[in-house]
Amino acid sequence: MEKKMSSLSALALLLLWMPLAMAKLHTHQFVVEATPVKRLCKTHNTITVNGMYPGPTLEVNNGDTLVVKVINRARYNVTIHWHGVRQMRSAWADGPEFVTQCPIRAGKSYTYRFTIQGQEGTLWWHAHSSWLRATVYGGLIIRPKQGDAYPFPKPHRETPLLLGEWWDANPIDVVREASRSGAAPNVSDAYTINGQPGDLYNCSAKHTLIVPINPGQTNLLRVVNSALNQELFFKVANHKLTVVAADASYVKPFSTSVLMLGPGQTTDVLITANQPPNRYHIAARAYASAQGAPFDNTTTTAILQYHNFSSPSAKPVAALMPAFNDTPTVTAFTRSLRSPRRVEVPTKIDHNLFFTVGLGLNNCPRGARARNCQGPNGTRFAASMNNVSFVLPSNFSLLQAHQQGLRGVFTTDFPARPPTQFDYTGNVSRSLWQPMRGTRLYKLKYGEAVQVVLQGTSIFTAENHPIHLHGYDFYIVAEGFGNFNPTRDTPKFNLVDPPMRNTASVPVGGWAVIRFVADNPGVWLMHCHLDVHITWGLAMAFLVDNGVGELQTLQPPPPDLPLC
Ligand code: C2O
Repeated sequence: MEKKMSSLSALALLLLWMPLAMAKLHTHQFVVEATPVKRLCKTHNTITVNGMYPGPTLEVNNGDTLVVKVINRARYNVTIHWHGVRQMRSAWADGPEFVTQCPIRAGKSYTYRFTIQGQEGTLWWHAHSSWLRATVYGGLIIRPKQGDAYPFPKPHRETPLLLGEWWDANPIDVVREASRSGAAPNVSDAYTINGQPGDLYNCSAKHTLIVPINPGQTNLLRVVNSALNQELFFKVANHKLTVVAADASYVKPFSTSVLMLGPGQTTDVLITANQPPNRYHIAARAYASAQGAPFDNTTTTAILQYHNFSSPSAKPVAALMPAFNDTPTVTAFTRSLRSPRRVEVPTKIDHNLFFTVGLGLNNCPRGARARNCQGPNGTRFAASMNNVSFVLPSNFSLLQAHQQGLRGVFTTDFPARPPTQFDYTGNVSRSLWQPMRGTRLYKLKYGEAVQVVLQGTSIFTAENHPIHLHGYDFYIVAEGFGNFNPTRDTPKFNLVDPPMRNTASVPVGGWAVIRFVADNPGVWLMHCHLDVHITWGLAMAFLVDNGVGELQTLQPPPPDLPLC
């Protein structure tokens, strides 16, 4: 009898231990340093990771743990954010500067430790300090647990395609100049695919990325918009794409000829080589929704090259891109995204929130110099959510202040709705254009269900805003144009199979509604992923309390957490 028991418990132990044994630990070292990088005929001393532009793409399986030691050998402060990783209880590894950690100073290091839990598809990592992410970024590929299959036929080849944005200048100088002047920063000079502008730019053709494909075969493209300030259309000439995942959540597969990705978003697509063997452009260019605002109107390309195609120097077949302002195409694309099956959307909502998202203009204080007031009509550009223009602390991170109970670093009075109601997408009175600065958080108890209506405004100009929430995935239950109207719009919510994402494209002059359950304690930034808008204050943060017991409690801070 005793013997039987012990062999049974041995079996139970083995079964318990097995999934752990299969999960892997990945250790990496990221050295952040200036490296000469030549693009558009000119060499810049570019901040890179391990001398690579873009940086390394990491490949893991769902359930694996990452340990990444970041050594800062650059002359700027740096942090690394693992965009879209849920960071359950490990907020200390999330990365936004002055939110979950103080920056890693020049000469110092910090080790990020976290586990991927229940996420599959494509994510990415990027610097979360000033505009360093222009060049400090890379992919994060999460495959199913070992032994598990994709929910689609196994592709013959997988290619990450990171769309970037290149300035023929030091991007840190570009943002510093804008912060000094109050004007909009210079637009970029090129877009890139895996760091290469492609054959439509000067001095770039011979470095154009080649993506090989065998006739008849199906490959997986993992597309990431890593651009700093621009939503992008993405297309492959003459080929249909089958979308299978977005933001590391699977979607109900659908076929399309064009994708739109806001900065921060990822889309995994299957592509089949069913066209005559040839060279075809893979192309991305701007979706520019803000009327009249300057933007980089160039096109980046790579080449989809059929194997054994006989004339490898032939001119690639061009991709016919949508017009820059083709909002109907964007709407058709985002509305096609669905969860693969019926999902459990929270329906008992504890916090029904309404946040305006948009720009603003600060009047220049009396006596300010003209050189610091170069925005429209002698103002300075600003941006806000619910009229709060978010200001980061500088002496503590928000998470540290919360955990140590420090007072005076932030308040928890972020408004649940805008201080004044107005016709958000109409002709907004000039008196409503000036936001208030503040470090104001919105407090949630562990496990509470949250709905946020993200309402775009037409202050200065209406624009599509890619709103990203750290530490969470959310369901996008509806989107629309004009002002959100609860009576008219609530009955249209998709509570059956809405897509799950970490970044929502809020339609230009419109709104999107997201829902999530606050099951991850910490301080979580929500912001527009156009970096120029974060610079202007288009952000807020949720403070999520611990729940009951260890599994609902934030882990203690790591011993090497940087201090301010
Ligand atoms: Cu991809 Cu706050 O960032």
